[in-house]
Amino acid sequence: MAMSHAEIGLIGLGTMGAALALNIAEKGFPIAVWNRTTSVTDSFFDAAGALAPKIIPTRSLTEFVSALKSPRAIILMVPAGQAVDDQIAALQPLLNSDDLIIDAGNANFHDTNRRSSAALGLRFLGMGVSGGEEGARHGPSIMGGGARADWDRISHILTAIAAKADDGMPCATWMGEAGAGHFVKAVHNGIEYADMQMIAEVYGVMRDGLGMDAPAVATTFATWNAGPLKSYLIEISAGVAAAIDPITGAAMLDVILDAAGQKGTGRWTAIEAQHLAAPVPVIEAAVMARNVSARLGERAKGEDRFGPAPMRLSGEITVDDLEQAMIAGKILCYAQGFAMISAASEAFKWALPLPEIAKVWRAGCIIRSSMLDAMARALGEDAGRNLILAPEFSDRLEETLPALRRVVAAGALNGLACPALGAGLSWFDLMRTRRGTANMIQGQRDFFGAHGFDRLDGADHHHGPWGSHA
Ligand code: 6PG
Repeated sequence: MAMSHAEIGLIGLGTMGAALALNIAEKGFPIAVWNRTTSVTDSFFDAAGALAPKIIPTRSLTEFVSALKSPRAIILMVPAGQAVDDQIAALQPLLNSDDLIIDAGNANFHDTNRRSSAALGLRFLGMGVSGGEEGARHGPSIMGGGARADWDRISHILTAIAAKADDGMPCATWMGEAGAGHFVKAVHNGIEYADMQMIAEVYGVMRDGLGMDAPAVATTFATWNAGPLKSYLIEISAGVAAAIDPITGAAMLDVILDAAGQKGTGRWTAIEAQHLAAPVPVIEAAVMARNVSARLGERAKGEDRFGPAPMRLSGEITVDDLEQAMIAGKILCYAQGFAMISAASEAFKWALPLPEIAKVWRAGCIIRSSMLDAMARALGEDAGRNLILAPEFSDRLEETLPALRRVVAAGALNGLACPALGAGLSWFDLMRTRRGTANMIQGQRDFFGAHGFDRLDGADHHHGPWGSHA
């Protein structure tokens, strides 16, 4: 039987769980681990090398629980959904009311809300962890949710394992009660989808519109990564475009099937945004584009019927325009994402700390970028103001919007789809128009359903003279 001296435990030694466990051990915290399949635990321990003395491998749940110091803290890194409920149920009889379970998977925040308010007979935290395997191993970004006192109990471990921003701040922050941490992680993933989609769109314009090959795309992204677009996703996109397929010797990009996978976190964000009536069209366009990408057969039939698109752009736009368009698109996308977080904060009474969220995303996570520093500053000045109205970002938008317009327009005229960039632009144009067009919608609603409308002059007359037309 293992000694009860592990500071923390971790269940689920898949890629992320194993990396997180090694990170925790490396920071000096003795950790007990358990996996449903014992051979996985054995190979994990065998590969732990110099970190093995800090790791207690266990072969049963009882052995695992008794290896932990009391009150216990147990990280779950198992697939989101039923597996989490099953694991909690299996642990319940073995734990006390002050023992703490931390769900570190990509849970739907509604599930985390449910688990937080259920009478589990133990403490529960929901924690979003971003950064993929590399992040989990050497410094992820951590978004926590649940009771503040429970977070405080383990925050010394979380801040030790988290990524550190350039100013030294650990990227591990308590976001609020219940599902707040998993909610912020979902929005992170929605933005991740959107950033990835916008990069894919400018890549498409380079490839199909400007006739650039993969190495030229790689060089362009690498150059951008030294400027305002400096970010993990631009950096790895340069890497993806530069890679060579070991089988054919062709560019890797040219042999990868154009059908995007998804586990659904971006989709959850789009769905939740609809519930909150919070417009996030860039994220929605990104989810839509992934769904369309999977319909290979239908797309092929479309091309057969309507002819091949796109056509080459005839000098209408440049690579510089694409960089400027990306900058504008990114600002618009993040403005929408933070506004959605604001809407959720109010709807769920969470008091989500917007500037801290921008800060916690500066390092470790997939959407880390140099622009988040300025966003954290702008949100720190006034978290209630839409980012597009913060002087630094409104100035940048004024500079970059003409290029975004050129790119979206050239795409539309030449059959190059830019749904996320286009969605950002349309949202911007709606957001900067005092007199919109919903007066027509109100007229229609009143015409067919007597739903009434407000008048510009404020006069007390709320139905139209539709008469015999009604
Ligand atoms: C992260 C990622 C991570 C994972 C997603 C990818 O922040 O580390 O978001 O959570 O890569 O599951 O999501 P899709 O499979 O939906 O693209």
